[in-house]
Amino acid sequence: MKAIVVYESLWGNTAAIAQAIAAGLGPGATAMSTAAATPAAVAGADLVVAGSPLFAFQLPTEKIRATIQGKAHSFPKPPDFSHPSLRFWLEKLPAGRGRAAAFETRMWFSPGGATGAILKGLKKAGYEPLERGRRFRVAGMYGPLKDGELERARAWGTHLARLATPG
Ligand SMILES: Cc1cc2nc3c(=O)[nH]c(=O)nc-3n(C[C@H](O)[C@H](O)[C@H](O)COP(=O)(O)O)c2cc1C
Repeated sequence: MKAIVVYESLWGNTAAIAQAIAAGLGPGATAMSTAAATPAAVAGADLVVAGSPLFAFQLPTEKIRATIQGKAHSFPKPPDFSHPSLRFWLEKLPAGRGRAAAFETRMWFSPGGATGAILKGLKKAGYEPLERGRRFRVAGMYGPLKDGELERARAWGTHLARLATPG
């Protein structure tokens, strides 16, 4: 099974979760940023797992990314803008045929979330959701991840591999 775990991550927390999910999925899985996940890299994927941070209760918008970029110097660790937003990536995702899953990293309880919009975008491109999105928690505004979250992510990857494998 070819599986791609694609992420948007400004401070590395979502990227670390994506790597752990890919490890749990097994040998056919690769974690990559929205820049590395080109149409050629995604072509033929049986499973696309996509994740982002939760910013202002939602999937990061270009507006909030621009605001963060404008104050990049004021953060304890510089945000990584080397890859586009997951929102943009989903808009450009070519049609495919496979299964989908979504995750987000976040700090608090929030009235909204990012995974609904992610699953909607994946479904529109032809990737059918396997189940509801998963949330992983960070301890502070920019991380680090809470204890145990990498292990949870790895276990979720293994669970997804079982769900996505026919028979
Ligand atoms: C501008 C900004 C807005 C945020 N908004 C929320 C939010 O609405 N709810 C929440 O739980 N966490 C919020 N957070 C915390 C992020 O979800 C956390 O920084 C994220 O997990 C970082 O992921 P990354 O390291 O992959 O970029 C916010 C952080 C920033 C910098």
